[in-house]
Amino acid sequence: MIRWVPGAVAALSVMFLGASVAFSTERMSADVTALLSQGPRVAGTPSAVAAGDYLALELRKAGYTVEFQPFTYSRTRDLGSLLNVGGANLEANALTGSASRKVEGELVAVPGVGAAADYTGLEVRGKVVAVRRGVIPFGEKVRQAAERGAVGVIVVNNAPGLVRGTLGGAGTVPAVLVSQERGDALFQQSGARVSLEVRIVDEQVQGRNVIAKRGTAAPEVVVGGHYDSVPGAPGANDNASGTVTTLELARQLADSPLAQRTWFILFDGEEDGLWGSRRFVEANPELVRGLKAMLNIDMVGVKVSQTLGVGGTSSLFEVAKVVEPSVFSMGASNGSSDHAPFASAGVPVLFFHWGLDPNYHQPSDTAYDTALMAQTGQVVRGVVERVLGR
Ligand code: BES
Ligand code: ZN
Repeated sequence: MIRWVPGAVAALSVMFLGASVAFSTERMSADVTALLSQGPRVAGTPSAVAAGDYLALELRKAGYTVEFQPFTYSRTRDLGSLLNVGGANLEANALTGSASRKVEGELVAVPGVGAAADYTGLEVRGKVVAVRRGVIPFGEKVRQAAERGAVGVIVVNNAPGLVRGTLGGAGTVPAVLVSQERGDALFQQSGARVSLEVRIVDEQVQGRNVIAKRGTAAPEVVVGGHYDSVPGAPGANDNASGTVTTLELARQLADSPLAQRTWFILFDGEEDGLWGSRRFVEANPELVRGLKAMLNIDMVGVKVSQTLGVGGTSSLFEVAKVVEPSVFSMGASNGSSDHAPFASAGVPVLFFHWGLDPNYHQPSDTAYDTALMAQTGQVVRGVVERVLGR
């Protein structure tokens, strides 16, 4: 049955694929607006809960049985660092993996980037060192300093402003980054009193996958995308776009026999490390073994590449190519997203996206093009039809 919606029904389907359904770009805009209305959908926050509730309600309205899969995981949270040198406070960003505690000591300005050779003739035991950013990884700078008995590390940026950095593992002493503007002066302040406090806590996150089905049998295909976003970013393209494309495809297929054999899953906790998709795969080993395909839709609202990018299993890529000859192959892995845990479990996967836009993970991630989303949804639909042998 064709579901006509008053107002803007995308004529795209006919032009693009000759398919018999039409995505409603108007309804998709309303969906994105609803998802964005509460601010960033960071897993475990009220905004993510509201988004999950909205998606469940819409999927139920479309005729699906909807379940939440709740799960928990721990996430570190930076409560802000306090750095004082010679009585003056400096803005400082904790390096991810930094030890979380307060230390005090005398400042030693290390002439260089904090490699072993830079410490020649310096005594840093019990002191706080300042080193320049660059040449060697943050983790290596901190290791070199801690090995020599330093109690804290201040990395001075080698370009204007502040950045976020990581030690790539757990460091043994507090370590922060300061801007070049504020930090340059430290190299003339050896001997000054330093107080450095890094405050990082572990918090338990409560996430929820939204799972929609119509049939009673195990699914043969999973279509989905993540609905969570990173702190500070509205997540319009990443990934309200894929979420809403999944939702609208579910609406389009609701009355088709394909919906009896497909589950639509909106994953939570992706941005913190693919938690939702990993927990789904872990919790459903038998179901996962029976899947013919997992189709992941992530970042399909902003056109960066000339044609639709499709990553994943080569046999399925060939199917996508039949549906839409212009798609280009991203190979087995490009950007990590919710298809990855399924692929690791041996499921054939496809990952649909239009490229990494400049607003990725930024407060400016507000743009989305519903016609592009509709066009993508038609390709995903075509793949579902062919995988299930229309
Ligand atoms: N949406 C991105 C993945 C992506 C990258 C899609 C490029 C399209 C093009 C996803 O939300 C993300 O940020 N993934 C992280 C890894 C994840 C495990 C935190 C990444 O790719 O760095
Ligand atoms: Zn994403």
